[in-house]
Amino acid sequence: MMNSKHVADASTQPYRGYAGLPPLVGLHTMEGAATIGLTVSESVERIKRIHWSLRRLHSIFVAHIPSMPIYELKMAFSLHAHFCAEHVGEFAKRVREMRQPPYGLEVCPDAMLDIFFDEILAAPSTEALLLGIYEHAVPAIARALGNLMADTNRLFDHPTYRICRFALLEIEDAQAYGREAISALVKDADRASLAEGVAALHRLLSGAGDLDGKQARRQETVERYFSAIPYVYDPVPRRDERFKDPYNMGVNAEAMLFDPEVEPLPKTIMLYFKRMREIDVPEMMSSILTETSGKPWAYYRDMTRQLWDEARHAMMGEVGFVSLEVDWTRIPFNFTWSLGLNTILNPKERHAVLFTIEQGLMPRKTGKEYEWGVGLATADPLTARIQDYDWADEILHARIGREWIVPEVGSQVEAMAFGDEAWSRTLVDWKKWQEDGLTAHFNWWPGVYREACKHWGVEPDPKLLAYNTTYESTRADLKEVAS
Ligand SMILES: [Fe+2]
Ligand SMILES: [Fe+2]
Repeated sequence: MMNSKHVADASTQPYRGYAGLPPLVGLHTMEGAATIGLTVSESVERIKRIHWSLRRLHSIFVAHIPSMPIYELKMAFSLHAHFCAEHVGEFAKRVREMRQPPYGLEVCPDAMLDIFFDEILAAPSTEALLLGIYEHAVPAIARALGNLMADTNRLFDHPTYRICRFALLEIEDAQAYGREAISALVKDADRASLAEGVAALHRLLSGAGDLDGKQARRQETVERYFSAIPYVYDPVPRRDERFKDPYNMGVNAEAMLFDPEVEPLPKTIMLYFKRMREIDVPEMMSSILTETSGKPWAYYRDMTRQLWDEARHAMMGEVGFVSLEVDWTRIPFNFTWSLGLNTILNPKERHAVLFTIEQGLMPRKTGKEYEWGVGLATADPLTARIQDYDWADEILHARIGREWIVPEVGSQVEAMAFGDEAWSRTLVDWKKWQEDGLTAHFNWWPGVYREACKHWGVEPDPKLLAYNTTYESTRADLKEVAS
């Protein structure tokens, strides 16, 4: 029965399985399997360094979301933070499988590596941050993953090999995006002025024997450069110059959305507006994640997943506006929600506000199902498709809230009351912003509605053109603002 070549006949023929099948399910040649490999403790040591690096990189992405003014980079940081959070979870799980306690997942495996990430965290400009993340940290992680895949035994240490492959896929995506971001935003003059900071990053990595510790360490002490002044988290949201009038609360989207007198099509503009306005959710969730310590990684993983979902919702709104040929830069996307929550409330209160809002989106008649129905009632399939996924995501988010913030406060009712009260404390400044000259609460609706009507090839309805309901006395869930 058996093919005789399954017995080593090493002189000429490579070892094959039955009828010439690849041996070892194709993971290795027989020779490779017998010679390639690391010990369990060597493998764990590399995994721990990758794990720690992904963890540090995750918190760098998250911490910079509010203060990063460029919208596209806010969105990219949200996705790349999500990549990191997912893989941190997988690498931590693998360490726990490798009989090497204490696992030491909460401690830095190499002080030099920590300074390397401190330097990137403290980068003083967008250019410095992009170079640090995408030309140094991300490629070093990719290199470490590639090294581990090449050095470990794919048969003996297959679970490690497998998670490295999956992680590398996304890390390389991040690297490719970063390359484009750098070529768009970092000029030669920036590189010249940042040369010393970049040189410090090189020295730190070689001082650590590279990110994975595979190289011989160069035993030198490295002075902190950017992080000589310790990094301070900046929770104040910033937007690029396309985002004007960020205190504007001049157009109440919900009041129109729930007005039974208004037909569905114009309401889709308000849905796109509400989606794109969600830029403020990653800005706010950044501060919860950054200022909450000591939770199990599952918490950070779930919350980062949600943060990324909210970034996607913003971009879904952007897709909507572009599909309508509406220039969204003429719409003020208010940032007072993330600003108020990030600067007035503590992380527990912020999370409760988020939960209160998201749980409040669940009822059929006033929530996400209603928004989906508005989309379905128009001929354009895009709005319904956006709302269909938005609804699915929000159900997940309400569950994340029930899992993490409800037990912290007490019952669901208590958590919602707690969030409601906290939210009210951030919402009393409509008139004051006007008095302080921060905004005139300009009514952007008629201009945008006209533009969309042009795209639809319909005449604007004069009654809708006159729409002028603001957020002066109502908040986004249509409750009265606390006086
Ligand atoms: Fe959302
Ligand atoms: Fe959500």
